[in-house]
Amino acid sequence: MTTPILLDCDPGHDDAIALLLALASPELELLGVTTVAGNQTLDKTTANAIRVLDFIGRNDVAVAAGADRPLLRDVYVAAHVHGESGLDGPDLPPPQRAPSSEHAVEFLARTIRERAGAVTLVPTGPLTNVALLLALHPDARPERIVLMGGAVAEGNVTPAAEFNIWCDPEAAARVFASGIDITMIGLDVTHKALFMPEHEARLEGKVGELVRSLLSFYGNFHKQQYGWDGSPIHDAVAVAHVSHPDLVETKNRGVKIDTESELSRGRTLVDLWGRAQWEPNCHVGVDIDADAFLDLLVERLNTFA
Ligand code: BDR
Ligand code: CA
Repeated sequence: MTTPILLDCDPGHDDAIALLLALASPELELLGVTTVAGNQTLDKTTANAIRVLDFIGRNDVAVAAGADRPLLRDVYVAAHVHGESGLDGPDLPPPQRAPSSEHAVEFLARTIRERAGAVTLVPTGPLTNVALLLALHPDARPERIVLMGGAVAEGNVTPAAEFNIWCDPEAAARVFASGIDITMIGLDVTHKALFMPEHEARLEGKVGELVRSLLSFYGNFHKQQYGWDGSPIHDAVAVAHVSHPDLVETKNRGVKIDTESELSRGRTLVDLWGRAQWEPNCHVGVDIDADAFLDLLVERLNTFA
């Protein structure tokens, strides 16, 4: 039995690899891709989703563009990580098609209704589209959300916060308070699974070449900022967790988002030890079988060869 998923993303190097992994996973049925402003502006993240699909000849996969800015905050892009295009490194041609005429939020709502809610939504960018979906279409609730974002105890934009949640904390607060079955794959997990040069060396074919050139650019940031020889493929962990639930260990805990303070904007506060007695609302990723995840990623990317 396959799991139907919707990927709501902001490609972005790791989003692009997550998209490739989703398409290479026989356990998953990708119902479509929606895009949001995040790593770059919406026009660029949307173009990048289509450019990756063009590269593997998958113009049958629907791409719908969504929110071009957070609910309340100013747009902030991560050009220092993902470059001016949002996908710097490889020399990909411009997109060969326009996105769907339907807005991402309408596309998500229609697809979820068509599947009577039996869809796992996988957001790998700021949660703006997802919050808008919940507000505008309360009847179109996915049965599960597995998102990349947040952390128990790390930050990558500020000492307190992870990029996707920090970008649109008000959207994240709404999503975490929605009562939907949520799994959070945060930095404490993704930073434990670095894709190293030895993994790159095992990649085959033209998709292997593409991923190597993506990682040559993306890896510069991780080398300079963290001193790492490899890169976390954050968003691919969320996709892999849907197809292979045992890769990530989770704990069901209460999680709240800080929308109030400036210093801790977008922090995912996790009641890990139950001291605050917050009602559990999220399966929080706390550990990963890194070797198994990285082997799976290499193996699945090589199925394109
Ligand atoms: C997240 O932020 C983005 O830069 C990545 O694509 C990932 O979704 C990691 O903090
Ligand atoms: Ca992302």
